[in-house]
Amino acid sequence: MSAINLKVLLILLLSINISNSLFWDLFSNRRYGITYKLFTRQNPLIGQYIFYSNPKSLMRSYFNNARPTRMIIHGVGQNENSSMNIILTKSYLTRGDFNVIVVDWSTVASPIYQYARLKVNMIGMAVSKYITWLNPNYNTLHVIGYDLGAHIAGIAGKNTVNGRIGRIIGLDPSLPLFSENLSINRLNSGDAQLVEVFHSNGGRLGIFSRMGQLDYYINNGRQQPECASSTDASCSHYRAVTVFSNLVSKNHKYLVIPCMTIDEIANKCSLDPIEILLEEISPSGIYQVSTDSAEPLNVNEATDP
Ligand SMILES: *[C@@H]1O[C@H](CO)[C@@H](O)[C@H](O)[C@H]1NC(C)=O
Ligand SMILES: *[C@@H]1O[C@H](CO)[C@@H](O)[C@H](O)[C@H]1NC(C)=O
Repeated sequence: MSAINLKVLLILLLSINISNSLFWDLFSNRRYGITYKLFTRQNPLIGQYIFYSNPKSLMRSYFNNARPTRMIIHGVGQNENSSMNIILTKSYLTRGDFNVIVVDWSTVASPIYQYARLKVNMIGMAVSKYITWLNPNYNTLHVIGYDLGAHIAGIAGKNTVNGRIGRIIGLDPSLPLFSENLSINRLNSGDAQLVEVFHSNGGRLGIFSRMGQLDYYINNGRQQPECASSTDASCSHYRAVTVFSNLVSKNHKYLVIPCMTIDEIANKCSLDPIEILLEEISPSGIYQVSTDSAEPLNVNEATDP
């Protein structure tokens, strides 16, 4: 190819508006084989795939824009059938009438963390494209991400164009190969109308620093009592999922202790406990949530609302 042709080709390529072209479609949702499976109270067990940019699959499904939507994004080494998706879907459909969409990026979520981590930006862009295409009610859309999935939710939230995601809930967002202090390429408090983060293995597999308007530290936020005998850090990491899922399904107020500073969490936060109802508006802050080690799923409950 002559130099002139090469120049023309380059100019052509550069003039394509990358973020708005087929480029991202080809290089993300389709190329990576990311899938989106819908569960509703009409089909709580057998999901329906809604394919990106495929109106037929949407029309044939039970998706209903009058319902609030919950989108769940798994972490490294997981897929649509992982227990995390099963328990969260069940908890939400127990709680109310939602569109629950389970995102599967397992074709790239290889068990090699370093590799999966490199794909987080691309997957996040793909998810934001999907949300733009689906065009759900943004105010009632909550995106729940665990591990690398929390950062994917953050990247998606930074890139939506027609509205801002109502809430992002980060479940122990991944620490390795992310910066605690630099928020550009990871989940951060500006990524949705409200960002809530549950920390359960801070400083190891999860980020300990504040990342949202509401940061919940489960027990000391680092090591979970139920995992004391486990040498596997992922035990404490995964507790963010089980504790959150429990809060979703119970749907009543629970007690949290507000903390004045992040340093208080190592011992016990000192302010008076307050009651919080998930999905309601709660004051921003740092909160300690304690679980009872004898009953791992029993988050300290307030009296009935
Ligand atoms: C999940 O399970 C369904 C039903 O067994 C199967 O068709 C699907 O391929 C599974 N997905 C993955 C990513 O393994
Ligand atoms: C991040 O910030 C904290 C406190 O703000 C500081 O102690 C720590 O050294 C910083 N880490 C890096 C890698 O800059």
